[in-house]
Amino acid sequence: MTEPVDAGLFQQQLLSWYGRCGRDLPWRQTRDPYRIWLSEVMLQQTGVQAVIPYFERFVSQFPDVESLAAAPVDAVIELWAGLGYYSRARNLHAAAQKVCEEFQGRFPSSVHDLMTLPGVGRSTAGAIRAIAFDQHGVILDGNVRRVLCRLFAWQDDPRSSAAEKQLWQWATLLTPQRRCHDYAQAIMDFGATLCTPRQPQCASCPMTALCLGYQQGIQEQLPRKRQRKTVPLRQEVAVLIEYDGRFAVRQRPLTGMLAGLWEFPSQSYTEPQSPEQLCHHAQRLAGDHDRPLTALGVVRHVYSHFRVDVSAFYCQVDVTLTECFSTCRWLSKKELTDWPLHGSHKKIVDTLLMQCGK
Ligand code: ADE
Repeated sequence: MTEPVDAGLFQQQLLSWYGRCGRDLPWRQTRDPYRIWLSEVMLQQTGVQAVIPYFERFVSQFPDVESLAAAPVDAVIELWAGLGYYSRARNLHAAAQKVCEEFQGRFPSSVHDLMTLPGVGRSTAGAIRAIAFDQHGVILDGNVRRVLCRLFAWQDDPRSSAAEKQLWQWATLLTPQRRCHDYAQAIMDFGATLCTPRQPQCASCPMTALCLGYQQGIQEQLPRKRQRKTVPLRQEVAVLIEYDGRFAVRQRPLTGMLAGLWEFPSQSYTEPQSPEQLCHHAQRLAGDHDRPLTALGVVRHVYSHFRVDVSAFYCQVDVTLTECFSTCRWLSKKELTDWPLHGSHKKIVDTLLMQCGK
C-alpha cells in the first residue's frame, strides 16, 4: 500500500532542518543512558526551559544510577519539588534501583526491557533507545502526535483507540533505521519549535510540500481539541500556625496524591462551604482555642481532575499550644521558601505569607 506521505523525503527534510536549526540542550552533550533517561522522564510533562536547571542539579547531586538508587527517596522528591507530577520522582528512584538490581547498573537498550522500568512507557522507551543507543526507537509523545495529525491531516478524535493505533503506525513508518539519535531529537525539536500548538511556523517549514494538513489549509485546527469538560471545584482550608517565628508543616503520606510532599495543616471539602464554615474548620485545625485567626486570602490551584480554592488562615500560638502539632516540623519563613511544599501551599507562601508582613 502506498503511504500518503513519503517517509524517505520526510526524514531527509527533517534531518537537514535539524542540522541547521536543532537546539543545543544539556542532555544532548552526552550519550550516557542514565542522563538521557533522566532528561526524558523530566521532559514527559514539563517544558525544556523549566527542566534545564532541575536536570543540572540532579546530575550534580546524583551523577550516576548507583548514587540515585542509594539515595533516600525523600532526597529525590525534595530535589524534584516544583517540577510537578511527583509520581515521576518516585518512579525514577524505583527505576534506578531496578537498573542496579536487575540490570547490573547498565540501562537496557531494548524497548521491551526499558518498558519494565517504572515510569517508562512505550514512547519514552523509544526515545531512550534512539537517543542513547542510536538504535531504532519510535517516539509518540505529545509533540509528535501533533506533527503527525497535521502531516497526515487526521481529523478525527486524536485520543480514540483507532487514532492511537494509526498514529503509532505512522510514527513507525516515518522513523528511519539509520541516524536514529538525530531523528529522535529532530522530530521533538520540530514539534516544539516549528510545528507548535498555536500558530505553527509554516512559512519557515521545509515540510509543507509533504504536509496534508497544510495543503488542505486545516493545520491550525489539528489535532482536534477535546471538548473541555468542567472540572469540579473543591475547597480547602489551610492554617499557618506560627510559634516564635516558625510555622508548622507536616509531610503527606508517602503514597497517593502529592506523596511525600509537605503542607500546612489543612483539610479539603468536596461540598461547597460557606465563609463561616471555612472559618470554623480553620479554628478546629488551629487547635480550637481563643487566639485570633486572621484570613490571609485564597489561592486557586488546578490539578488534572479538579480545581481547588485554598483559604489560608494565620494564627500565632504560644508554647502550650504547640503540642497539638507534635508531628509537625517548625520552619522559618526563609526555610519555607525552598522546602518541598506541594504547589498550592507553595503559592500560599509566595503570594500570601511573603506579602502579609506576618
Ligand atoms: N521532549 C522530550 N524529550 C525531548 C528531548 N530529548 N529534547 C527536547 N525536547 C524533548
